[in-house]
Amino acid sequence: MRKLLCILALGLISYPQLKAKTASGADEGVTVDMSGTNSVQPETPAARDARMAWWREAKFGLFIHWGVYAVPAGKYGDVDSYGEWIMWNTKMSPAEYQGYAKKFNPVKYNPEQWVKIAKDAGMRYMVITSKHHDGFALFPSQASKWNVVDASAYGKDLLGPLVQAAHSQDLKIGFYYSHSQDWNNRGGAIKSYKEGDGWDESQKGSFDSYLETTAKPQIREILTNYPIDILWWDTPLHMYQPRAEPIAKMLKELRPNILTNLRLGGGYGDYATPEQFVPSTGLKGDWETCMTMNKHWGYNAVDQNWKSSPELIQKLITICAKGGNFLLNVGPTAEGEIPAESVKRLNDVGQWLKVNGESIYGTTAGPFPFLTWGAATRKNQVVYLHVFNWPADGQLRLPLLSKVKSTTLLIDPSKQLQTTQNSSGTIIQLPPQAPDSVATVIKLEVAEEPIVQPIASFNKKLIASSESPKNRVAAAQDGDAGQYWEAAADDKNAYLEYDLGEPTLIHALAVDEPDRWPRYKQELRIEIETDKGWTPLLSAETKGHGHQAQFTLIKVQKIRLYIKRELGPPGIAEWQIYSPE
Ligand code: GLC
Repeated sequence: MRKLLCILALGLISYPQLKAKTASGADEGVTVDMSGTNSVQPETPAARDARMAWWREAKFGLFIHWGVYAVPAGKYGDVDSYGEWIMWNTKMSPAEYQGYAKKFNPVKYNPEQWVKIAKDAGMRYMVITSKHHDGFALFPSQASKWNVVDASAYGKDLLGPLVQAAHSQDLKIGFYYSHSQDWNNRGGAIKSYKEGDGWDESQKGSFDSYLETTAKPQIREILTNYPIDILWWDTPLHMYQPRAEPIAKMLKELRPNILTNLRLGGGYGDYATPEQFVPSTGLKGDWETCMTMNKHWGYNAVDQNWKSSPELIQKLITICAKGGNFLLNVGPTAEGEIPAESVKRLNDVGQWLKVNGESIYGTTAGPFPFLTWGAATRKNQVVYLHVFNWPADGQLRLPLLSKVKSTTLLIDPSKQLQTTQNSSGTIIQLPPQAPDSVATVIKLEVAEEPIVQPIASFNKKLIASSESPKNRVAAAQDGDAGQYWEAAADDKNAYLEYDLGEPTLIHALAVDEPDRWPRYKQELRIEIETDKGWTPLLSAETKGHGHQAQFTLIKVQKIRLYIKRELGPPGIAEWQIYSPE
């Protein structure tokens, strides 16, 4: 059991070979399982570790969505809520959309300044859209005239200077490239349209010839002209394995050390990309949550739904505590400026990192599946406790059983915090006031591999109302959100049921859903068995992103999770239940 606990805690890396599955009837064409890794040529784990090393150390990066869509900035007629999808959302003709490029003249663009903003935020890499779904290349291209030099008022390469500025300031840089969707170059894929189709005559054509004449040549241009560190694919419509393979091969040939995400299709790539969410129990293998600061990726002039700086700092910590990287987005204006609201927030995160960076960079997932008061990261035998909610009684409880060598505030290593341990866990005596109201870091050194109290549902009996032959119930409690349970196709009342063995005090739970794209909604409902029979406890609707909930302490032995899915049989990747520390 100890060994299994450590595996859970470390989130050890595995390299399952994954195959894309064709989704029956889905107009998106392909359902891509994005929870694993694969490479064209076999690579030893050591070679892979060496290739991934800088990225695993970096933890925090800047995503930049920039293009012609920054000109309309979300405004089209009466409609005012779109960013980079404005063309698709309004079904604007390519001819009309291309008119905006004539106004795209980012005279205030200052690549050194952008790099400085990222550096000041404590970021170690950036990823910029070299071509989004609108097909507009921000680099000169022989493969299509729909590029910044030939089609825009600006008329010069935007990306070369940024790559140079990044590398000269010791920042890694990657390009996002929409390889499949392209709404302007003929034959490009379009969400909700059949392969080869589109809303405008000029879009209709062969997807394979689009790949041959636009996408592949442009990928080659990128790989030969820019010494980038990452290629970030997106929305792999129609990109089943035979189509993805030649691209994966080209990549290995031209730039064997480049990193890529798992959105190429065909199972190729290095890391998973949970979008706009943090997987509840983390993922095995490498992953990166990408997230917007307001509601849009591309610049939207009216969107003022900003996440606060404390929220973003805690997001970064929570992601690192689960073993992921954080790619935080900005959408610069058509003039070339990163919005002031974004710069302010980035700066706040940077200030926090200046003091607390040691607890983030180069860390791996913390040893605790759940903590009521915050989150924890880890570097070998050092555990960094991030306290978001300072306990009123000054006692910080953690379910840690291994012997503690030292406990201090990260900002004051000279003073030991009184720490007591018994067979059920560890208690740290905190100063009365939180030194940092957003996240105070406590540095705790253990004398051995961290051993933690097993969670309430660990190894407990889990049954399902039904299961599909390939996706068995055991997958929902194996500590690996990459594997999932799925109900039988005809199960109209699907549920999972834990028997905790004896009445047990619990107060939180976490659910991960299968990480597939396109994502789908599920309705979740929790019921507990009481002396009055099955009684509802919680319900939630998800977007295929999983769910985490904390509730008043209850004593329960049997607990059910009912799941309804909009389309097809419901599935759960992981279901964990927690007792208080
Ligand atoms: C998406 C969207 C997109 C955005 C992105 C970021 O799936 O299509 O506009 O670029 O992913 O993850």
